Amino acid sequence: MFAWLLCLILVSEAWPVKCQYQQQQLIILAGQSNMAGRGGVTNDTRTNKLTWDGIVPPQCQPNPSILRLTAKLKWVLAHEPLHADIDVNKTNGVGPGLPFANAVLTKVPNFGVIGLVPCAIGGTNISQWRKGSSLYEQMIQRAQVALRGGGTIRAVLWYQGESDTVNLEDAKLYKERSDMFFTDLRSDLQSPLLPIIRVALASGEGPFIEIVRKAQLSSDLPNVRCVDAMGLPLEPDGLHLTTPAQVRLGEMMADAFLQSIPSSIKTTSHSHSHSPPKFPHFISYFLILPLLTHLFWMILTFRY
Ligand SMILES: *[C@@H]1O[C@H](CO)[C@@H](O)[C@H](O)[C@H]1NC(C)=O
Ligand SMILES: *[C@@H]1O[C@H](CO)[C@@H](O)[C@H](O)[C@H]1NC(C)=O
Ligand SMILES: *[C@@H]1O[C@H](CO)[C@@H](O)[C@H](O)[C@H]1NC(C)=O
Repeated sequence: MFAWLLCLILVSEAWPVKCQYQQQQLIILAGQSNMAGRGGVTNDTRTNKLTWDGIVPPQCQPNPSILRLTAKLKWVLAHEPLHADIDVNKTNGVGPGLPFANAVLTKVPNFGVIGLVPCAIGGTNISQWRKGSSLYEQMIQRAQVALRGGGTIRAVLWYQGESDTVNLEDAKLYKERSDMFFTDLRSDLQSPLLPIIRVALASGEGPFIEIVRKAQLSSDLPNVRCVDAMGLPLEPDGLHLTTPAQVRLGEMMADAFLQSIPSSIKTTSHSHSHSPPKFPHFISYFLILPLLTHLFWMILTFRY
């Protein structure tokens, strides 16, 4: 009986090693096609179908410290295209999410495990992201599932607005609608100053690009930073960022993000030590297992 109790205590000591995602630094990715990623997606002239060329530059390669929440709400190693199972009705390619995460880890190596939560859907306008809409509620739900691991939402990356350049009225209302969206989002995530890194449009579906860009570049909400994508190379469709453009954008967003977070976060990730504490856990795990086996064996042989 006593031995069983001892086993239980030992097992519970070793348990935390299973909760390896506890320290995740969560990043929500939302918006429309250029956030979902269309880098390397072109119209195949033979088949007339949009296809992804499959080219993954080094900045977008998988990294054991970058995970992704799938459509089925499981954590997996992140790889391109990040939105393949989210923006399911479109052909997805390279987006800014992985180059962003790789750039953050290059600049702050002890940042911890990054958990990307892709939520972007191509062709969506700002009204479709309003609180109460299915896109909005799904994003909140995915964020809440992501938080169950014990991590913290560090930022929202938002690239959207191309669809709001078609009508003058929508373009004029963009500032008001996006401010409301950010405010609702922060309130529902219970993080009133959550860093938001938004992108000023490089392209649009209609003629009123400059009105939307002005709204994006002049937001007066605190802790909302804007990265300007204008001038980055576009695919032949004139709407979507190429793969090299997405790599550049991801790096620009990483710089904006690292400027937006208090330096204490960057340095406390030292003291919280995301990777080093795993080591003692691992060691104890490997020490405890043989010990347990040995204990069991001793009990068994003692009785029989
Ligand atoms: C591909 O290009 C052809 C010819 O320009 C066009 O007719 C077709 O609609 C395009 N397909 C897609 C999926 O964009
Ligand atoms: C994909 O298309 C189906 C059928 O039209 C639709 O029900 C579904 O909502 C679409 N999903 C997304 C993510 O666009
Ligand atoms: C946004 O898109 C939806 C779906 O395409 C459409 O029904 C709606 O009219 C659009 N809203 C605005 C304000 O453009």
